[in-house]
Amino acid sequence: MNSKSEAFLNQPNDAPAMAWAEVGQSRPHESAVLHVLGEATYTDDIPEAQGTLHAALGLSAKAHANIVSMNFDAVRAMPGVKAVYTHQDIPGTNDCGPIIHDDPILSAGLVEYVGQPIFIVVADSHDNARRAVRKADIQYAELPAILTPQAARDAKSFVVPPMRLQRGDAEAAFKRSKHIAKGQLYVGGQEQFYLEGQISYAIPKEDNCILVQCSTQHPTEMQHVVAHALHINSNQVVVECRRMGGAFGGKESQSALWAACAAISAKLLKRPVKLRADRDDDMLVTGKRHCFYYEYEVGYGDDGRIVAARVEMVTRAGFSADLSAPVATRAVCHFDNAYYLADVDIRAMAGKTNTQSNTAFRGFGGPQGAIAIEYIVDEIARNLGMDALDVRKINFYGRNDEEGRNVTQYQQKVVDNVIHALVDELEESSAYRRRRAEINAFNAGSPVLKRGLALTPVKFGIAFNVTHFNQAGALVHVYTDGSVLVNHGGTEMGQGINTKVCQVVAHELGIPLAMVRATATDTSKVANTSATAASTGADLNGKAAQDAAHTIGQRLAEFAVKRHGGTLDEVRFAAGFVHVNGVAVPFPELVQQAYLARVQLWSDGFYATPGLHWDPKTMSGNPFSYFAYGASVSEVVVDTLTGEWKLLKVNALYDAGKSLNPALDIGQVEGAFIQGMGWLTTEELWWNAGGKLMTHAPSTYKIPAVSDCPEDFEVRLFDNRNVTDSIHRSKAVGEPPLLLPFSVFYAIRDAISSVGQHRHNPPLNAPATGEAILNAVDAVRAMARE
Ligand code: MTE
Ligand code: MOS
Repeated sequence: MNSKSEAFLNQPNDAPAMAWAEVGQSRPHESAVLHVLGEATYTDDIPEAQGTLHAALGLSAKAHANIVSMNFDAVRAMPGVKAVYTHQDIPGTNDCGPIIHDDPILSAGLVEYVGQPIFIVVADSHDNARRAVRKADIQYAELPAILTPQAARDAKSFVVPPMRLQRGDAEAAFKRSKHIAKGQLYVGGQEQFYLEGQISYAIPKEDNCILVQCSTQHPTEMQHVVAHALHINSNQVVVECRRMGGAFGGKESQSALWAACAAISAKLLKRPVKLRADRDDDMLVTGKRHCFYYEYEVGYGDDGRIVAARVEMVTRAGFSADLSAPVATRAVCHFDNAYYLADVDIRAMAGKTNTQSNTAFRGFGGPQGAIAIEYIVDEIARNLGMDALDVRKINFYGRNDEEGRNVTQYQQKVVDNVIHALVDELEESSAYRRRRAEINAFNAGSPVLKRGLALTPVKFGIAFNVTHFNQAGALVHVYTDGSVLVNHGGTEMGQGINTKVCQVVAHELGIPLAMVRATATDTSKVANTSATAASTGADLNGKAAQDAAHTIGQRLAEFAVKRHGGTLDEVRFAAGFVHVNGVAVPFPELVQQAYLARVQLWSDGFYATPGLHWDPKTMSGNPFSYFAYGASVSEVVVDTLTGEWKLLKVNALYDAGKSLNPALDIGQVEGAFIQGMGWLTTEELWWNAGGKLMTHAPSTYKIPAVSDCPEDFEVRLFDNRNVTDSIHRSKAVGEPPLLLPFSVFYAIRDAISSVGQHRHNPPLNAPATGEAILNAVDAVRAMARE
């Protein structure tokens, strides 16, 4: 092998086409084989230590009440029961709120939603704990409950102060607007429905220390919550997570309650305690995606271009703040989606309600912000008799500086806009215009079955709005046989972060991916980590691991020159060899020699995303490192007599930059698409008049199944290169594609509107269940008759 041909391999990110590379290659998920064989260890699969006990939580039956009395005699009399604990038994702080400390682990006398944990039962088995928990006698004095976002707004009941972002002068712009439209929209929440539920397993260690095995996206925060609850230091708590069976935001902050309850029980009993939530308890206790209620007003011209926009968004935050402030912030920052809004006035309110405390869910408020402007654009098109795609295009951010349409409402300049080229490519490859004509012809001859089509764009900001979260660390160990172990602060939830990080390390050291292994995320290895969230996992941890591997590579290169001669800048690592001064030394051989020469073969690495700033007071700054783009076309057929529908065909195009792993990225796009489609169509959360969530199991809560996937599902990656210096110029993929199935929702709305010859705007809320579709069909028929 010629060392010159690999000359680029040591270059940071700007290498030309590569002859040998581990990044940019489709590689199977690092645990794919274990997943399929059932050999991947999830928290509940960890062999139990001797003496392990099991906990269950006693939940509030009331939405808002003071607890008058609690009697646990019957609980204690149940078989196998070892202990019952209430808030009074917590050694430290009774709080698991991630930002604002308004989130009790166990109710301290006031209950604020049906499902709020009040006490812990610890027993010798999971079943015994669950049976016993039901025997408690709790008396309540009920208080009035607020259940909906609108009711919270009217009562001025908020978990954080309302937000407002204004740019330009919406008031004046409305006055110049030729057309004005007003309306409202409700978009429901969504249960994360990770297949592995919430679980924590706490094992007491010597000297007041504790190990918590926890299914969590945020081991460091679990460490903090446990330390506070037990009144010990962070250095006495180790939190470990090898992998999660899905998380989707639901294990970012809300794994804390379970971790704390297991840890409190373990500490008090001096025995290992496992707390595994049953699905119903999990759904009753934990928060979900925030539902949003919008009231909007838009001014626009004859060409469909938006002149002024005003929106008020109210969300159901639930009983505590949790992550509602950042979720609302992201909604405000994504109300533009891919559109330039010169004069805009956005308000967002996080309504305090007597329901589960809503939390992160893939997209983190971004989808909720963007879907509203898409609803508005959809209506402008219908009002003007235009194709919605043309209205979208005329409102896109500018192609370049000259157009003067490239600054977001929060003052970040968009410097990487590819939406025009991406949408043009998709319009062409999906034969959008031809199919539009075909669908019109089909609908003209089909009185009951109606087809619908929509193309919707996505622009999604990547980075945490809160600047200091944008940091990551990693440790890379090279062993003397040449094998490599990587540890980083990110967590694996199925998205493939470990695979990508291992690819980055393999690439950096010029060794095959098979030589690199990632270990469990562990607070005793990399400290002070951020949640694996906001789609930044691979971006941040990939860079940190690259930094660590690069340091080791530099040391090895120096050693190689000392041993074999030549110059440092000629040393290349590729395909398992180190090329130095005309010789190719196998990587393990060089490593062995370096060890004997006492060269340090492990290193830490660190990364902090540059150029970010955000001022929450003015809601402006440069919160995002870059934007990821995408678009999709969906075609549906709707039965206008039953409200049933089918997704016939999807074409999706996603901008993953220079993808680190196209196979994984396409998998992420497919998964996010179907998950987002479920949010907007079949997944309906329903609380009864007493505030009890009645859809707390798969029997009543319908997530998409394989049979709901379109037979014709074409997902492609858009050929692009991140203009920002991201890890190998890739782009994040975890969340943005969740916005792609907007096209499903708007295709359904399009099909419904065909009933009234596209002259009336169907009042369609999400989820567009069969019932909602039928109601919208009826409404359009009624408007058409008037
Ligand atoms: N993919 C799988 N299979 N399981 C998950 O739980 N979570 C999503 C996304 N993709 C998730 C997933 C969410 S909410 C986020 S923020 C990102 O993955 C986090 O991982 P990343 O930053 O490494 O992409
Ligand atoms: Mo994802 S909602 O940021 O965990």
